[in-house]
Amino acid sequence: MKLARLVGTCLLCLTLAPAVASERWYSDQQVRAGEPLYQRNCAVCHGVNGEATPDWKTRDANGNYPPPPLNGSAHTWHHDMDVLRRTIREGGQQLGGVMPGFEGRLNGAQIDSIIAFFQSQWPDEIYARWAKNFEVTTLPSLTDVVVANERHLTRHLRNRIGDVPFDDVSEMPLDDVWQVQLGNQFIYLLGGGRYALRGDLIDLEGGRNLTELSRRVTVIDTLAQFDDAEVVEYAPAGERRATLTVFTDTSCPFCQQLHAEVPQLQQAGIAVRYLPFPRGGESGPGYATLRSVWCADDRRQALTDAKNERYDSLPPGDCAAAAQVDAGYRAGSRLGIAGTPALFLESGEKIEGYRPATELIQLLQR
Ligand code: HEC
Repeated sequence: MKLARLVGTCLLCLTLAPAVASERWYSDQQVRAGEPLYQRNCAVCHGVNGEATPDWKTRDANGNYPPPPLNGSAHTWHHDMDVLRRTIREGGQQLGGVMPGFEGRLNGAQIDSIIAFFQSQWPDEIYARWAKNFEVTTLPSLTDVVVANERHLTRHLRNRIGDVPFDDVSEMPLDDVWQVQLGNQFIYLLGGGRYALRGDLIDLEGGRNLTELSRRVTVIDTLAQFDDAEVVEYAPAGERRATLTVFTDTSCPFCQQLHAEVPQLQQAGIAVRYLPFPRGGESGPGYATLRSVWCADDRRQALTDAKNERYDSLPPGDCAAAAQVDAGYRAGSRLGIAGTPALFLESGEKIEGYRPATELIQLLQR
């Protein structure tokens, strides 16, 4: 994980600046990576610059076609990306040709970089025709500046996730692996963005769960959006030793139970900071009550009343501050809260569900 991400810098924005020369799908880095691979595996037949064999349309004495040029002068540009990849993987023998297949000798990223290398020999005009025909079905390697283009970046991903907005894309500390954030979920793009992997990325050497760190950064960022006026806080009795943020719903029995133990937490120096989270949103059972609480002059008293099912003294929930209930719901949803209470420590760590105050106190004193 980049430190830059931790301080809230948008890596995608940083990489926006340099426009990609002539809009090719590949990066300079891929061309550089592809060249030696091409020279080692392909040049012997296709020529050092992809120029062999000018007379590629004439069969040789054995009735085989000679290796065609790959430099744009022959018809390689008639093939889309997948056909090019397949030709290199499988060779031409299955189709009665003589080119060997490279499956098992070159991996997907290497094949792509070889394609990048020989395409870099194509004149712009030929490349443009190819790109127009096939509307480039591949993604650029994500390791280079090409990530500037959001549509480009997520073409494969977009097909899968539809219109779900993603939040951020960041480079991971290993080659060609990018992390895409969707709310508080993270997926990893591999193989030039063709493959996506869901799961936690763990740095075994450092013993750190990098995905969990990203999740916590998101929690911290999200919770920081709420200032004191927007939450209902029960301050600690003495010195503040820790703060617990709790997404709560007045209609949830475990929220009521936890609330009854708030004085215990206060005594232990723990501030309890409540954010509203009506389970089921607007149509949920606690929505109207939470709005009323947020409209009350004394929210702390109102919340305690509501948690004890005393609703008579609550004001109507039609004030401007009631909108904070929606904001709380959105924030909680973004953090992937499934039920209430949902507790968050200052470290961004999430505790799912009710825990007795004694247990919480122990946990926070660690
Ligand atoms: C032993 C010689 C040989 C080697 C090595 C070889 N090729 Fe080929 N290649 C051919 C021949 C011959 C053809 C024409 C089809 C056939 O006979 O299989 C061909 C066809 C192709 C085509 C299709 C071109 C078109 O216009 O239809 C591509 C793309 C290609 N080769 C790329 C590569 C790449 C990339 C490498 C290296 C990883 C490579 N070849 C290695 C001989 C070779």
